[in-house]
Amino acid sequence: MANESNNFQELISHCKEYGYIFQSSELYDGLSAVYDYGQLGAQLKKNLRDAWWKSMTQLHDNIVGIDAAIFMHPTVWKASGHVDNFSDPMIDNKDSNKRYRVDHLIEAYAETLDETKGKAILAEMDRLLAADDLSGLKQLIEQHQIKCAISKTCNWTDVRQFNLMFSTQIGSVAEEADTIYLRPETAQGIFVNFLNVQKTGRMKIPFGIAQTGKAFRNEIVARQFIFRMREFEQMEMQFFVRPGTQMEWYNYWKETRKKWHESIGIPAEKLRFHNHIKLAHYADAALDIEFEFPFGWKELEGIHSRTDFDLTQHATYSKKKIQYFDNDLNEEGKAYGNYTPFVVETSVGLDRLFLTVMSLAYAEEKWTKEDGTEDSRVVLRIPTALAPTKLAILPLLKKDGLPEIARELLDECKPHFHCFYEEKDAIGKRYRRMDAIGTPFCVTIDHQTKEDQTVTIRYRDSMLQERMPMSKVKDMILEKIDT
Ligand code: GAP
Repeated sequence: MANESNNFQELISHCKEYGYIFQSSELYDGLSAVYDYGQLGAQLKKNLRDAWWKSMTQLHDNIVGIDAAIFMHPTVWKASGHVDNFSDPMIDNKDSNKRYRVDHLIEAYAETLDETKGKAILAEMDRLLAADDLSGLKQLIEQHQIKCAISKTCNWTDVRQFNLMFSTQIGSVAEEADTIYLRPETAQGIFVNFLNVQKTGRMKIPFGIAQTGKAFRNEIVARQFIFRMREFEQMEMQFFVRPGTQMEWYNYWKETRKKWHESIGIPAEKLRFHNHIKLAHYADAALDIEFEFPFGWKELEGIHSRTDFDLTQHATYSKKKIQYFDNDLNEEGKAYGNYTPFVVETSVGLDRLFLTVMSLAYAEEKWTKEDGTEDSRVVLRIPTALAPTKLAILPLLKKDGLPEIARELLDECKPHFHCFYEEKDAIGKRYRRMDAIGTPFCVTIDHQTKEDQTVTIRYRDSMLQERMPMSKVKDMILEKIDT
């Protein structure tokens, strides 16, 4: 497992070398903190997105999915609080002109200290951040003589809040154009459609609305590969509940989401909860599901109890009534109710989930063979259900009718799952390449296939090989994908 930071660089190179992830606009030397997913990466990402979508919208009969636009009316972001509050405290070094996120600067310094001192400074930082004490944060930096990594000086500006939203203009005539924002979260597309979905879908509370899609944040310090990007994808679900029941649902979703991560192959011991000390402007409770990335424990998913903040704000700013009429309250003998539902949100970054799966899958293996010689391989142990390519079909030779038989198997399997066909190179080399891209099964068609219609199946994880009837290959793989 790539759980050592020195393996992280190798994982990044591997992603590029095998068509998983490329730097955006690499031809022009790249665009910082923006990445493109290659032919295998796009498929793995889709498999993850599909697994999430299925778990939310198919396996929960009270959750439906939507696809709202990225562009939204500018007042949405005023109402949601993002125009005024969606910012990070930043500080500039006057000698290098380099801008830092204050928490990142202090965290990097804390890592250079012994554990007790490091924890003390981080606790002080958390206290100052929770109190929005910007001058206190500057004093903390000066008091510890924290230096800029480039200029090596402590010549700092004041700490300022820096809004993370990207803005652009909509409209063709400059004077008439309106400033709009690229959405920094997908959630608002759900809130503004609450009534549309509730009414047209005749949804009864409690119910959820799910959505996946791009979000954009002008992250000043974008780092750790696809962990923190400026353009990324979120998978969010807003669960609308009766006021007063939100903590019950918060606990339900906290456990349900952690179990879901485990169900796609993330070991329980690599996941933990981290309660927020400083709550976002909309939340009355919040936690992160953290994963132990190669560079430490970091947020993978957020679970937020968002109260009725967003719906109330949109009702105020749009001057429309956004409420739910709860018939069931009457049936339960309680007062009839029109109320603004409370919301529990689950929000996971698809790119972070991708990085989680890849960092668990990447392994460099070495072993001694029976003849005493050394052998090695790089393998991506991606769970079968998620692997971009499920089966490689490899005729042993490019002649004697073997490619024709192989193509018959390809035609049988490709309507059901992704296959890869390859007839070049020695078989050992082809197996290594399939290990490196994470293909869980390879099937070799040889001369014996012509006699008894059996093939050699080779398993990626164990490297074991066995013969099986060619007619059973498709069903065996379908069974593995389903488990
Ligand atoms: N709607 C709530 C919300 O957006 P968040 O904690 O800011 O909450 C949710 O973001 C998730 O989105 C995070 O847990 C993370 O997985 C992902 N995410 C946030 N910022 C990101 C970035 N710059 N790059 C990649 N993923 C990001």
